[in-house]
Amino acid sequence: MNKQQGAIGIFDSGYGGLTILKEIVNKLPQYNYIYLGDNARSPYGTRSFETVYQYTLQCVEWFFKQNCHLVILACNTASAKALKNIQQKNLPFIDADKRVLGVIRPTSEIIGNYSNTKHIGILATNGTVQSNSYVIEIEKFYPEVKIFQQACPMWVPLIENNEHENKGADFFVKEYTQALLKQNDKIDTVLLACTHYPLLLKKIKDHLPADTKIISQGEIVANSLANYLQRHTEIEMKCLKEHKIEFYTTDAVEDFNKHAATFYGKNINARHIDL
Ligand code: DGL
Repeated sequence: MNKQQGAIGIFDSGYGGLTILKEIVNKLPQYNYIYLGDNARSPYGTRSFETVYQYTLQCVEWFFKQNCHLVILACNTASAKALKNIQQKNLPFIDADKRVLGVIRPTSEIIGNYSNTKHIGILATNGTVQSNSYVIEIEKFYPEVKIFQQACPMWVPLIENNEHENKGADFFVKEYTQALLKQNDKIDTVLLACTHYPLLLKKIKDHLPADTKIISQGEIVANSLANYLQRHTEIEMKCLKEHKIEFYTTDAVEDFNKHAATFYGKNINARHIDL
């Protein structure tokens, strides 16, 4: 293998990033991808800034050892709590030619276009809500838009434990969607600002008014990556194009394979890594 080239790294705390990878592979099937889920330490959403930063940095360094030149944090929590530090404090010392990108910026660039009332609801993990990243980013592109945030701390554990289609999940879906709607009755667009949440889409739909636009990030991130690679030929040239995808998890492979297929829509053969 030409060491100058490597796969595109896709990272999430667990399974959620697979909803993003799926759309990226649909849009850009020609590239090689390495997916890493830090399942052993997920969820990240309830952890401190410092912990999410350290965990994410470790994973990014692992991707670099696999010869990835470009890593996408397909995780809102890691994008909110670790991306800026990694880009500004670590990359210049590790390798200034490597790139790490997140999912908050590409989503913020486009989300304002979906809303007629200019009132947008954000459903996310505690960590993403507390970071205020969406409020700060969306304001840059759509100063006229009002943002209402609701943390949904029980959703990721429900999904990671494969309980999201069961009856018990309805209680927490109702709880958080109602809490969001109560904040303002003009909300016409709701962003699923956690890459796990598309798995709950059916139930979320059932609990929001029928005309609410519910936005998942997969396609948005895929389009933004395609655009990025077009604009940055120096990075694009370093991305292997052999249509190969490898999956890694920090937890048990058997569990990952079984569960990941639900997120990815295909059977997966993952390998275990220790960090
Ligand atoms: N899927 C992640 C996100 O987008 C992280 C969820 C978690 O680990 O808490 O926020």
